[in-house]
Amino acid sequence: MQIVNIVGAGLAGLSAAITLAKTGIKSRLISLQPSERAQSVLAEGGINAALDTMGEHDTPENHFADTLRGGVYLADPNAVENLTYHAPEVLRWLEKLGVPFNRTPEDIALRNFGGQKLKRTAYAKSSTGKIIMHALIDEARKCERSGLIDRMPHHEFLRLLTHEDTCIGVRVRDRYSGKLYDLHGTVLLCSGGMNGIFPGMTTGTTQNSGDVTATVFAQGVCLGNLEMLQYHPTTIGIAGKRCLVTEAARGEGGRLYIERSGEKYFFMEDKYPELGNLMPRDVVARTMYFIRREPDTGDQVYLDMTGLPENAWKNKLSDLRQELMHYLAIDPKKAPIPVQEGIHYFMGGMDTDEEHRTSLQHLYAAGECTCQYHGANRLGGNSMLGALYGGRRAAETILFDKPLDACQVQIVEGEEPLAEPASPAWIAQVSQILLGGLGIVRNEAQLTAALDALYALRPQNPREENRLHLAEAMLRSALERRESRGAHYREDYPEKQEAFRKMTLAEYNGSVRISFRALPERRHHADHN
Ligand code: FUM
Repeated sequence: MQIVNIVGAGLAGLSAAITLAKTGIKSRLISLQPSERAQSVLAEGGINAALDTMGEHDTPENHFADTLRGGVYLADPNAVENLTYHAPEVLRWLEKLGVPFNRTPEDIALRNFGGQKLKRTAYAKSSTGKIIMHALIDEARKCERSGLIDRMPHHEFLRLLTHEDTCIGVRVRDRYSGKLYDLHGTVLLCSGGMNGIFPGMTTGTTQNSGDVTATVFAQGVCLGNLEMLQYHPTTIGIAGKRCLVTEAARGEGGRLYIERSGEKYFFMEDKYPELGNLMPRDVVARTMYFIRREPDTGDQVYLDMTGLPENAWKNKLSDLRQELMHYLAIDPKKAPIPVQEGIHYFMGGMDTDEEHRTSLQHLYAAGECTCQYHGANRLGGNSMLGALYGGRRAAETILFDKPLDACQVQIVEGEEPLAEPASPAWIAQVSQILLGGLGIVRNEAQLTAALDALYALRPQNPREENRLHLAEAMLRSALERRESRGAHYREDYPEKQEAFRKMTLAEYNGSVRISFRALPERRHHADHN
């Protein structure tokens, strides 16, 4: 019997499991937490598709061009073409599943989002991720009833089972009983971003610990573009993490300002008159970083939403207002919100081809743990799309390649060295070292100092060792990219260089190796069915 082991039960994992189930292929959905608590429920602002429901003559080709430009031409153009041309179909599928998107009298409404001139972002107030997840969970439950999806929450991925260059399954641990299991069959990794590498510093959940990426890297899976960390311009600090203030706030008219010579200075509007507050995130975050260092300016940037129309608060941002009143005790209708840049998304991750195959046979990856769609900077609204479409596309590839004919489950007796977690103190140390090198503005001296500090650490168990290799690969990718592109800004190399319009590739084979790989040419696909 054929079975697919999907690691991760967020949008990418659910989308893949549902796609497989529709063709009668069974999957196990393995995750630390149930889908209801996956990172995807935190997505707020919306999901992009050139539906052209607002009379602006939008097309998938515009969406394609904005995505490539936003990623500063470091994404795989063929993968991006697949993503953007299929986006309208993904949205119509969600609509059929009953996702209550905000609507115009005729159709799905779209809002403005960063890095895009046209309205292209569909939304359900400001809880779009939670609402889409509910619809997918319902759909997965139907497949569960017919035995085609086996949901396995509270199970932790420990490592891949491999034979030569082939992946043959995964070893997992039941977090309650502590028992170890070997689950045989094809594997699809949908394990999300590496938030746990920076505990407390990201808008994401630290249950996405980065351990899956670190482990498979040590097992020989290639990673790409690891230096590309997205800093979201508008986050607030709450207990133990950064909390997102959705870009939709600016899409609906929110304005960033800083005090300068005693006046409000709306710096984005002044510096970038065309897109203003809705420039791509890397540009906004960097401008905030530099503006605070200018003479006569304060050191706090504010988001002013006091001028937003009542309709925006009532129908489009009501959840955001509740959240801000809850966490900051500030009513954004009445007073500006102090905001700060915070790590929000990992554009880098597992290297796959445009069909989601990794460097190991029978191992696939989709969602935020991969790196093909967003290049050097992801556009807001493309992440849920990347997860939903990527999960589906990976499942289709698995069907095309044929899943392994193996489904047995074996209880593992004895010790598993990877069962021991990295110690929190050690994780915090690595995080501080990485932040020293991988800030919004970087330079060779900081990156070298961070690497020296990293090399001085002595890992105490295999998981710590794996994280060390991953951290080294991140810093060395940033060090070796001697240019500025998207989220990677080097003050010692402030210009973009055509010679570096290449993916950074990280490989591990006893030691970390960094190289650059040319991007494929766009093929122009004949059709997108
Ligand atoms: O700001 C936001 O609502 C984030 C959306 C995204 O990252 O796609």
